[in-house]
Formats: sequence, structure tokens, C-alpha cells
Amino acid sequence: MALEETTNPLRAAWWLERGGLVAFPTETVYGLGVDATNAVAVERLFAVKGRPINNPLIVHIAHQSRLDVVARHVPLLARRLLERFAPGPLTVVVPKQPTIVPAVTAGLDTVGVRIPDHPLALEMLRACHVPIAAPSANRSGRPSATTARSVVEDFGDRIDCLLLGEPTRIGLESTVVDCLSQPPRVLRPGAVTLAMLAEIEPTVTLADATPRAGDNSPGRLHPHYQPAARVMLFDDPDEIAASLDAAYLAMQPHAAPGRFGWHQTFRTIEEFSRQFYEALREVDRRGLKVVYCQRVDSQGSGQALSDRQSRAAEPA
Ligand code: TXA
Ligand code: MG
Repeated sequence: MALEETTNPLRAAWWLERGGLVAFPTETVYGLGVDATNAVAVERLFAVKGRPINNPLIVHIAHQSRLDVVARHVPLLARRLLERFAPGPLTVVVPKQPTIVPAVTAGLDTVGVRIPDHPLALEMLRACHVPIAAPSANRSGRPSATTARSVVEDFGDRIDCLLLGEPTRIGLESTVVDCLSQPPRVLRPGAVTLAMLAEIEPTVTLADATPRAGDNSPGRLHPHYQPAARVMLFDDPDEIAASLDAAYLAMQPHAAPGRFGWHQTFRTIEEFSRQFYEALREVDRRGLKVVYCQRVDSQGSGQALSDRQSRAAEPA
């Protein structure tokens, strides 16, 4: 069947309640939503996305008053984080309700929950009587989709509906916090930084800093954010040789050193973050073989972008 594009969140909710696959904008990246209580629909989502079955999905709700539908109980830390940062680019990992089908959480007894800060997403979620599981709306392993165009490129008619919105405001996925570990851990850095979380809970740490036996941060196991072009990170533009087969991405004032097939420079970390995935996709659209990408500082506001840059540059 043909993909239905709409600007009406109620139409998107109609599809979701019938077990459809619906792409929708959030403030971070586009999500590919499905009824989290419908096992058949969830199975189709994993197949269409090409997602490994051991990588759990985030469940989206419109308001904290619906937490009980998803979470068996809500730890105090999760409640305090949501009070401070929701709606916003934060996912809390909490104990799961049995109504969420096991495939959503890859068999884990925990579930990631998020309230996105986007008017269309919130209106769609409010109109749904069920919670919505939604990974980023990209084929597994590819750079996430931050524009409606990129969603269509990856899925076309294999999904039912696309809720049309502007390019997403933040451009990188939410911060994922495991609220059940001691100390609580950031499983994926995002726009809610470690320093912001530490204002609420000073013991919170980055997952890499405290690896543990039998650890389960499944999203870290698989290749992520990778264009077909090879991503090469650099610190100093003098290290690289210009080539018409290559693209160049850097923070201003580092003008491209010579002629490249394509280049883009960014004024701020926020702008680089917002446009990073779309830039990687543009490199592929132009058929370029290599993208030289300037590494950003992994501290402070560069935490999330630095993480995505490193993963995009890992060998596939
Ligand atoms: O910003 C976002 O979070 C976007 C938008 C659409 O909301 N969604 C998103 O979903 O990025 P996805 O599926 O691409 O990434 C989900 C991440 C994965 O790294 C996964 O391992 C982790 O969240 N995750 C989900 N549930 C988990 C759980 N129960 N325990 C540990 N990690 C979990
Ligand atoms: Mg993803």
C-alpha cells in the first residue's frame, strides 16, 4: 500500500491504533511508532527497520499521568528526572509493565520511557489509547532521520503513514538514563548532559566509566549512525588532503583546506548536532566515498555529538 503523508496528528493516531507503522517528528529525531501492546505490529516494525531483536525500543507517552501504563513502578529518581526534564530529550529506564509486549524490550524486564517535547508528537500520543514504541525512523545501522525526506528515503511504502513536520530541532537522540543501577548510569548521552543530570542526582555516571559483568546496554552492541561513505575523524584540518571524492564537515572558522566534493561548516555545537545526520546522508546522496569530520570535544554540550561521531566512524 502507498505511504500516506499527513499533517494531522489524529490521522497518525488512527493508523497507530490499527497496528500501523507511523513515522513522526520529535524534538530529537523522527521516530517510527507502533502500538507497544500489539505483538504482530511490533514484529513488523523490527522486520521493516532491520533491527536486531536484542535491541529494545523506547516507549513514548504524552504525559507523566500515563507512566503507570508502561512502568510497573516508577523509582524516585525517574520521577524527579521526568519532573525536571519532561517533556524533553530524556529517556528513563524503569521496571516494565507486562502489557508492553516482550519484543519491545527485547525480553528485558525494564523499559525505556520518554515524553517527547514536540507539539505534533504530543497531540498524536494524547489521541492514542495505547503507549507507542518508537525507535529512530532509519533503517538499522544508518544515520538517524531528522527530516521527512530521509524517512521516505529509508522506508517509502514499507510504512503506513508519515506525520509531516519540520527538520528536528535537536538532531541527536535522547539521553538514556538507567534509573535502576547503583549508581544510576547514562547509557546514551544526549542533549540532557551529565552536568544537568548531576544537579538532580550527583552520583550519576557515564556507562563507559563503570563497565560491569553481564551488563546490558544493548544499543551499544550494534553498528550505528553509519553512512555508506567512510567516516574519518580529524582534529586538525592540516592533517587531511583535499579530494573531490570526499566531503568535509567542520566547526567554523576551519574553512575547507582545498576543494572537496561537498563541504559544510557549523557555527556552534548545537548547529553541528542538529545537522550531523542529515550531512552524513547528503554525502551518500552525492555518492562521495569519504567524509572527513572534525571531532568535537566530548565534554559539556559536545558529549552527545562526540559519541555519535565515534560510532559513525567505527568499522562497520
Ligand atoms: O530521541 C530518541 O530517543 C528517539 C526518538 C524517536 O524518541 N528514539 C530512539 O530510539 O533513539 P532508538 O530505538 O533508536 O534507541 C533506543 C535506545 C537504544 O540504545 C536502546 O538500547 C536503549 O535506548 N534502550 C531502550 N530500552 C532500554 C532498556 N530497557 N534498557 C537499556 N537500554 C534501553
Ligand atoms: Mg536509533
